[in-house]
Amino acid sequence: MTILVTGCAGFIGAHFVRQWLAAEGEPVVGLDRLSYAGNLASLFEAGRDARFHFERGDIGDAALVAALLRRHRPRAVVNFAAETHVDRSIHDAAPFLASNVEALFRLLEATRGHWAALAGADRDGFRFVHISTDEVFGSLGPGAAPFDESSRYAPSSPYSASKAAGDHLVRAWHRTFALPGIVAVLTNTYGPAQFPEKLIPLTILNAAAGRPLPLYGDGANVRDWLYVGDACAAIRAVLRRGRPGEFYCAGAHNERANRAVVEAICAILDRRAPRGGGRAHRDLIRCVADRPGHDRRYALATGKIERDLGWRPATEFASGLEATVAWYLANGDWSESARSGAYRAWMVPNYAERGPA
Ligand code: DAU
Repeated sequence: MTILVTGCAGFIGAHFVRQWLAAEGEPVVGLDRLSYAGNLASLFEAGRDARFHFERGDIGDAALVAALLRRHRPRAVVNFAAETHVDRSIHDAAPFLASNVEALFRLLEATRGHWAALAGADRDGFRFVHISTDEVFGSLGPGAAPFDESSRYAPSSPYSASKAAGDHLVRAWHRTFALPGIVAVLTNTYGPAQFPEKLIPLTILNAAAGRPLPLYGDGANVRDWLYVGDACAAIRAVLRRGRPGEFYCAGAHNERANRAVVEAICAILDRRAPRGGGRAHRDLIRCVADRPGHDRRYALATGKIERDLGWRPATEFASGLEATVAWYLANGDWSESARSGAYRAWMVPNYAERGPA
């Protein structure tokens, strides 16, 4: 059997395809429109694997998706395709609503058409796995227990509001049409080959080049950092054993203030790529104007996914971060290809570039 992976050239999608082929061995049809953050180079060896078939296109192209489903008859769809960067959503929310809501709706409808025509075990075994984010729950209070599957939706940014809408669509398509959708809710994911607009890769590349390291606000916002290999293992568990209609939160038990993350990267670079002249990378840190609507803290519980699916995060932050920094230092070509993408849209200024607070 085959699975269809949408957003297969994005950060988590590409890692998932690689891990899936290595661990499960089942063929993958990958769909990606190769927008600014989609990079086929991120698939590495998987991009040349005979079990991988790539199709360039949009999840909102119902005719294309229907044709792919007809031709390849996948047993599951795993949807990574999304606009993901909060700063961009503040700059221009329109692509977020177009991809994360409207196009997702069309993907759900195309999948429903395909699934409704299946029979017997094919119909019973079919799954639609959708990837979501802890940001749908809004900001977690200091000292509060991590969010879980029963937490109230309270998104703060245009990005998280669009992801919240997407989650509601998947749930509604299950309740109304019985489409076997499952949602994997992830916290901040990091690792090699993440597009350098996110905090960790941006900090590594800027620091290695001796450029300033912008910290939004006071740098005390907290994120729960999940290594991408662990995130992919969680999604595989959701696909293999998750129950249709359910949501599963995958946290990392790894809360860190942004300043601590940036300082940890600086300390690794001081060892691996010293600046010279006795200068420390941390001297490059600059506090800048805060992101509007900036959520103070995110963290996710893992009780349900541990209990029901047997998954738990395995990677220590220190080793995951070390491996990530080492990867960026050794893979300048990838960073260059990400930077010189046709759209050059990563140049859209983020809030850091508005200057010091
Ligand atoms: O929590 C899951 C989410 O994590 C995902 O759903 C999003 O797709 C992903 O982008 C990420 O959202 P964040 O806004 O938390 O990630 P980002 O890397 O943009 O920022 C992480 C933290 O670092 C956040 O508190 C803002 C701060 N930050 C970010 C950048 C880019 C800075 O202080 N300086 C920066 O230059």
